[in-house]
Amino acid sequence: MDVRSHNRTAWDRNVDDGNRWTQAVSTKAVNDARDGRFEILLTPRKPVPMEWFPDLGGLSTLCLASAGGQQAPILAAAGANVTVFDNSPKQIEQDHYVAQRDGLKIQTKEGNMADLARFPDDAFGLIFHPCSNCFVPNVIPVWQECHRVLRPGGVLLAGFVNPVRYLFDDERKENGNMEVRYRLPYSDLDHLDESHVREIVDAERPLEFGHTLEDQIGGQTNAGFTLTGLYEDGYEESDNDPVSRYMSTFLATRAVRQGNLLFVVNGTGSW
Ligand SMILES: C[S@@+](CC[C@H](N)C(=O)[O-])C[C@H]1O[C@@H](n2cnc3c(N)ncnc32)[C@H](O)[C@@H]1O
Repeated sequence: MDVRSHNRTAWDRNVDDGNRWTQAVSTKAVNDARDGRFEILLTPRKPVPMEWFPDLGGLSTLCLASAGGQQAPILAAAGANVTVFDNSPKQIEQDHYVAQRDGLKIQTKEGNMADLARFPDDAFGLIFHPCSNCFVPNVIPVWQECHRVLRPGGVLLAGFVNPVRYLFDDERKENGNMEVRYRLPYSDLDHLDESHVREIVDAERPLEFGHTLEDQIGGQTNAGFTLTGLYEDGYEESDNDPVSRYMSTFLATRAVRQGNLLFVVNGTGSW
């Protein structure tokens, strides 16, 4: 199964269906951001704390798997030099739409979040990566690539799903009868029976993967990042999400790429 190809179709379909994460921001939100007032999301509800952002003026910024006309236009209006990189042409079209409507400059490229080969080393000062790595089978290369394309001192803002969401029998989520069923790490392809996978594929819904916290957080530190912030978030009560009644099931992290240290003792270069 070509996961990336299927998920491209599925996210294009989400745009056609008006899914919440595909809806473009308003002109008012863009104009507010031009005046320095904005809120953007890495997770379902809580805005990213303002102190998490570096100075955005002219900052080379990668919105990674973050198309949909939401975060990129706001960051561009706030002064950043934004590139959107996403797998779904229709999601990317949402960013083009806002850019054209509101006179913003946003570059876009289509591709896979786990392979940023088209960007040189040290290309960005900020990467904004909302909850989207649940759509790739392996998250480790994503962190490694983020580290490579961020310059030393650059900031990685990431949202991701607590894998606890994937423990339960998916078919029972809606009526709230949550039965622990799946072992983590979770994969739609490995854990669901064939007919269930077929149902997802036929309905053009995205295939999902529940990565361990070791891969999510340890993956960042192993790639060379230092964590400088973390919060949890969840759905609203009105979203009727049974797991969210018990705990917050999304996380956001702020991480910094450590600088390259050069030790020179007495000008001799020896230790
Ligand atoms: C939940 S949406 C996130 C974007 C949204 N603007 C937000 O606020 O969260 C997930 C995004 O991940 C993208 N995506 C899924 N698989 C991808 C992949 N392998 N590489 C790059 N982007 C991918 C989808 O096309 C979609 O735009």
